[in-house]
Amino acid sequence: MLRFDPGPRAVGALKAVIFVAALAPAARLAVAVAAFPEWLGTNPAEYITRSTGDWTLRFLLATLAVTPLRRLSGWHWLVRLRRMLGLFAYAYGVAHFASFVAFDHVFAVDEILKDIVKRPFITVGFAALVLMTPLALTSTNAMVRRLGGKRWAALHRLVYAIAVLGVVHFWMMVKRDVTEPAVYGLVLAVLLGYRVAVARGRARDAAAAQRAAPPVR
Ligand code: HEM
Repeated sequence: MLRFDPGPRAVGALKAVIFVAALAPAARLAVAVAAFPEWLGTNPAEYITRSTGDWTLRFLLATLAVTPLRRLSGWHWLVRLRRMLGLFAYAYGVAHFASFVAFDHVFAVDEILKDIVKRPFITVGFAALVLMTPLALTSTNAMVRRLGGKRWAALHRLVYAIAVLGVVHFWMMVKRDVTEPAVYGLVLAVLLGYRVAVARGRARDAAAAQRAAPPVR
């Protein structure tokens, strides 16, 4: 394990850099809309919906990668990046939904509801976004204290289900070439596999410790 502990100030600076970098895709879309529509191709609405959908999934997977990376590297400070990455996933998810509401349906609520109910890939995407909402709302330190660590962690395990829904949503959307959703699916499978392996290892250790403990009289 390569020991690397940059200290709170350097981690703060790194967070600031990641914050600015994470805003770049949104800024690029805003600049394109305002001044360079040609950047958005022949179907700007679709471009914006797809781009924000892609970034939602990327930030979600980046958030999920923090814990395995932290454990494998021993760089515990990485956990300080996790909340920000998760909140960016949510922000891009909301922007993605907003672009669907504005461009696909021009704010017609009945049409939007019909689409959510009748088109399975929209249902799945909507379910993912709905499930992300309580995680975003409980992301503050005050909410962690209020819920208690165990309940908070149990709630936030939903992030795996959300990522599965995100990949399924993308997979259902593509008509022929499934390469892109398959790549996201593979990354997610590795992250989930790691999580399952850690949980199994813990259960094995706990069972071994119980066997080794002297019987209680
Ligand atoms: C209310 C929730 C959601 C709605 C209504 C929605 C709707 C859509 C629509 C209409 C498209 C574009 C389809 C097309 O252009 O043919 C799309 C694409 C996509 N969405 Fe969603 N979505 C939602 C939530 C999500 C969430 C939560 C994620 C990620 C976790 C996500 C990830 C994606 C991805 C990756 C794409 C494909 C982008 C690409 O083609 O590169 N969506 N979604």
